Amino acid sequence: MIDFQSNQKPRSCALVIFGVTGDLTNRLVIPSLYNLSAAELLPEQFCVVGVARYPMSNEALREKLMKGLRQFATRPVDDKVAHRLLECVTSVAADPGDSLSFDGLKERLEQLEASRNTGGNRLFYLATPPDAFAPIARQLGRVGLLKEENGTWRRLVVEKPFGTDLASAHALNAELLSILDEHQIYRIDHYLGKETVQNILVLRFANGMFEPIWNRHHIDHVQVTVAEKIDVGHRGSFYDATGALRDMVPNHLFQLLSLIAMEPPTRFDAHNVRSEKDEVLAAIQAQSEEDALNNSVRGQYTAGTIGDNEIPDYRKTPNVKPDSVTETYVAMKLHIDNWRWAGVPFYLRTGKALAMKRTEVAIKFREAPFAMFQSTHVQQLAENYLVICIEPTEGITLQFNTKVPGPLIRTGGVQMKFRYRDYFKIEPATGYETLIYDCMIGDNILFQRADGVEAAWRAVQPFLDAWKKAGAKGLEFYPAGSEGPPGAFELLKRDGRSWRPL
Ligand code: BG6
Repeated sequence: MIDFQSNQKPRSCALVIFGVTGDLTNRLVIPSLYNLSAAELLPEQFCVVGVARYPMSNEALREKLMKGLRQFATRPVDDKVAHRLLECVTSVAADPGDSLSFDGLKERLEQLEASRNTGGNRLFYLATPPDAFAPIARQLGRVGLLKEENGTWRRLVVEKPFGTDLASAHALNAELLSILDEHQIYRIDHYLGKETVQNILVLRFANGMFEPIWNRHHIDHVQVTVAEKIDVGHRGSFYDATGALRDMVPNHLFQLLSLIAMEPPTRFDAHNVRSEKDEVLAAIQAQSEEDALNNSVRGQYTAGTIGDNEIPDYRKTPNVKPDSVTETYVAMKLHIDNWRWAGVPFYLRTGKALAMKRTEVAIKFREAPFAMFQSTHVQQLAENYLVICIEPTEGITLQFNTKVPGPLIRTGGVQMKFRYRDYFKIEPATGYETLIYDCMIGDNILFQRADGVEAAWRAVQPFLDAWKKAGAKGLEFYPAGSEGPPGAFELLKRDGRSWRPL
């Protein structure tokens, strides 16, 4: 993982970005490269090949990237640093439907590698729509650009979504693994680039006090919340075909779940950490379609107000079907079948156009077995929560009971709060810096392995199948700006529990 103090530069390499004119490159990849360059964490000898389907001059591409950088940089742009970076960019046109263009890409890349002295190490970044992942990898394999030889490394970064269900994720893994070795594939989940998410490992495994109570004997349940205020906006065509479950659950929410629920790895390395995370995903209890329906709630937002913004009905979003049954909210209950977690429900919820942006994992501990304080019943004690907050304030909160000052013994709930910004200077960043840097140094601890991706899809597949069959039946509605559909609250109420307010 990145250590901004160490100033350790990766080995020289070429970075080849497919989809260089796209949104992701503009919003995240280039601003992250800029931040790495400002921190002197790019390789000494480095070049960027920007691949688009249509030819573009170097000047035009650099100008476009500069414009994007000015818009999306996380800190004021220093022109010297920006020019140093953009001067490394060369524009090349290639289209996976046109084999010849990949022969041309190979030739151009080899020339650049020689003139820039990058040593033959290559990072191919697929910042493209997912239907291009396999065709690009096939072409790269065909022209021999992915073969690791003479001590060089060749790596492929794949963005999400990785498949749309278990079968497609399996097929994509099989295809990529017929071209590359697993160690060459970096499947990105940007949640793993977030400091607070990485801190879950440190919190759990660098402190002795949590592990003894981190199990079914002491934990009542776990709530994972990723609530978003933003609506679907201009992403209608992608979102309507995808929905909240596919967009968020098998990737981002399951990353949080697996870090919370995994067993302690024997070593802090990619093999051991990922194996433990993947074990947990594989241990998510398989549900029948009927159970999946009972244990989940689908919601879709209707018109409403969030702050000063009037949010239109989801079905009126451009490129969304007027009778769409795509969910913009999902809540679900899962169990993990192992000794640590048997009987402990994991409640997950995520949605768009909600009252608040809030990402957190809340661990609810069991109640005190009885309250010996006069006139205080166990039910009246404040709930014991350990909350790992990822958004909007990065930190950790512990909620417990304390004595209310005064002659009588009365109890009240209080919170002990740790906020990152009170202890550490946090440079504004995209969250992709660590991920891109790790690809360059060959550390894949923060990337998903094939078995983990498939275990995640396997766990959500019954929900996808059951909802497909149910169609509009069971789809609930919630006004934009609310906390979600009523059924989500029922789901926990049935178990005598409730969601933390957003
Ligand atoms: C993306 C989803 O992967 O994650 C988006 O496609 C979502 O729909 C985003 O808005 C949420 O990320 P974050 O970091 O803002 O919580």
